[in-house]
Amino acid sequence: MSDATGFEPKIVAYVCNWCTYLGADLAGTNRLEYPPNVRIVRLPCTGRIDFNLLIKTFEMGADAVIVSGCHPGDCHYTAGNYHARRRWTMFRELLDTLGFEMDRIHFAWISAAEGKKFQQFITETTEKTRALGPYTAYREICEASR
Ligand code: FES
Repeated sequence: MSDATGFEPKIVAYVCNWCTYLGADLAGTNRLEYPPNVRIVRLPCTGRIDFNLLIKTFEMGADAVIVSGCHPGDCHYTAGNYHARRRWTMFRELLDTLGFEMDRIHFAWISAAEGKKFQQFITETTEKTRALGPYTAYREICEASR
């Protein structure tokens, strides 16, 4: 449901194939409803996610980005989610310094058995993003620099 201005957030979720994607599938199989604002992009592992991809996603019009994969210790490639977490720790401060609104980038661990958690996380993220409004600030900077 949109707010009084009609704003509907566009959210892109980069999820790993082995856990969160299957959690999303489980939510669907169990007919758990969640907002249709999220576009899921399935990747082999969160360890494959480059921060340039997140920046590009905002540049292309996303209002929020989600990265979600296997719980620590459960990565199917042994340590991909640890690499993702380390990368997040390193780049968080940099993104903050560059002026990104950090409330628009979300990380989660959601397993294949956590369909309910996936539903709740997507619902909460959508509500938070709706409250923040459209992420026009970054797009305006991108257009001004062209
Ligand atoms: Fe899921 Fe690595 S396979 S995070």
